[in-house]
Amino acid sequence: CGIVGVTGNQNAVQILLTGLKRLEYRGYDSAGIYVNAQDGKEYLVKEKGQISDLEAEITPEVHGSTGIGHTRWATHGEPSKANAHPHVSADGRYYLVHNGVISNFAQLKAEYLSDVEFKSETDTEVVVQLVAKFAQTGLTTKAAFKKTLNLIDESSSYSFLLMDNQKPDTLYVAKNKSPLLLGIADGFNVVCSDAVAMLNYTHDFIELLDGEIVIVKPDSIAIEDATGNKIERQSFHVATDASAAEKGAYPYYMLKEIDEQPAVMRKLIEHYVAHDGSVKIDTQILQSLQQADRIYIVAAGTSYHAGLVGKELFEKIAQIPTEVHLASEFGYNPPLLSKKPFFILLSQSGETADSRQVLTQINAHHYPSLTITNVENSTLSREATYTLLLYAGPEIAVASTKAYTAQIAVEALVAKALGELRGFTTARNFAVAKELTTVANGMQALVDGKKKIEKIAAEILKTTRNAFYIGRAIDYDIVQEAALKLKEVSYIQTEGFASGELKHGTIALIEEGTPVVAVITDANTAKHTRSNAQEVIARGARVIYIASHSLAAVGDQIILPDVHPLLTPLVAIVPCQLLAYYASLQRGYDVDKPRNLAKSVTVE
Ligand code: G6P
Repeated sequence: CGIVGVTGNQNAVQILLTGLKRLEYRGYDSAGIYVNAQDGKEYLVKEKGQISDLEAEITPEVHGSTGIGHTRWATHGEPSKANAHPHVSADGRYYLVHNGVISNFAQLKAEYLSDVEFKSETDTEVVVQLVAKFAQTGLTTKAAFKKTLNLIDESSSYSFLLMDNQKPDTLYVAKNKSPLLLGIADGFNVVCSDAVAMLNYTHDFIELLDGEIVIVKPDSIAIEDATGNKIERQSFHVATDASAAEKGAYPYYMLKEIDEQPAVMRKLIEHYVAHDGSVKIDTQILQSLQQADRIYIVAAGTSYHAGLVGKELFEKIAQIPTEVHLASEFGYNPPLLSKKPFFILLSQSGETADSRQVLTQINAHHYPSLTITNVENSTLSREATYTLLLYAGPEIAVASTKAYTAQIAVEALVAKALGELRGFTTARNFAVAKELTTVANGMQALVDGKKKIEKIAAEILKTTRNAFYIGRAIDYDIVQEAALKLKEVSYIQTEGFASGELKHGTIALIEEGTPVVAVITDANTAKHTRSNAQEVIARGARVIYIASHSLAAVGDQIILPDVHPLLTPLVAIVPCQLLAYYASLQRGYDVDKPRNLAKSVTVE
């Protein structure tokens, strides 16, 4: 979920809506705002659906100078108007927005609130009702809020913005695990889950730590730690330009972000490669990596798939054993670790709760860690020992594209630098800047040829119920990401399969006309994948080949420019992203906001 707050500006409604639109990537099943006009007038507007649906419900009369807003990704309770935030206490005094999960909400409800009539099925409403209940016993709002926070168990996660209509210019703020930033604008203050929400109003933000409570007024921000000590904290500057988060002439963010990939590759070369071709990575990071006997990559979703390619790069270029783990699995069932592990957390957003949960454990053991992320100052970046940035610019479409390729490129750069330090010729011979330039040019040719991909999507994906991507070795890594892309945005049930394994069971799913996309960029296994494709053709499948130029056969539909064998995912994924994009549009969906998903999942 995404949350925003503002105090001290007559245009609170507009500021909240602008912020919520920017945060829609965190969820978009329902949304709401509460604003107080300081003249006795207050307004609560909620609606099921996207921010545009909420906006349509807001009449010109709705106005105020202090307010809170929320865009939801449902956890407890279906997406509906009643379950949308802000939630209001039964006495009508308190309003609350929340991102996270209150694990012990049922218990708190039973213990303290059996006499209160609830309006929603959410865990959040319990919190606002508790604050009201404690305030009724004579506590100040701050004390009632604190008392409530103390009752929430440690496994819960939250960021809260609370308003009291008896103190209509004040925002009460607290967080545990879920991200939240304070923003200092010109003459007013804001609060948001992510800086991107408020870049139109400020570039100066203050970090907030778990357990702190903040009182935000139009002209002051007072931070206290859990024991009541005043905290002074410097703000930090976010350089990102607000326009970088806009889609300009593009119909959808996803297409814009696919098209940006060649530029992102060039930007990474600019940031990470010196004129003499050497890689510019902080020597502390490299020294720490050099002391490790094994790398553990931990990530979720698309970032996990970028990690799979990272393993190839680290093992083959830097010759260091590397394991890749799903964050949600690793945290509760960790593998036996080597003596000197080094952790790499891959995360576009830097906020994924599953990954953060692992990082907390890593830190408890004082293991070194590196977060590779697109978002400077994000939680995973702040909490890891080291950070490397992706410089991909804001990624807004829910389906990740340019962050995946940027992650792989950064892994290649790290592998090169580490391998050289470890003294391997494999690394010395890997001319990473030259190779990434070849990749950028290859990507450009592929995005320029998108019309052809649109046609193939219309032929094979427009009406199918299911589909397969197959490949071996590095192509198996690619097809797992390709399949995820297609299922996320087109809802076609798609599997990315190791092509040799298909015949051991899953081939039973192949029917007359089932689309199977075979990805062939690995010279060692090209022939084998082609035979596996023949096996499915013999059973009625409709096969499309995506093959590197040097491995292509007559009749292959999509030809990839030749690049370094360990970098083929960077070009091969481009047509797969485009196939997913066009399939989604052809099937009539909103490709930027696929159903049930959120871009940044800040709950476990
Ligand atoms: C969500 C998104 C995915 C993303 C995953 C990991 O599930 O929908 O697109 O890959 O989170 O996100 P991260 O920001 O950690 O890379």
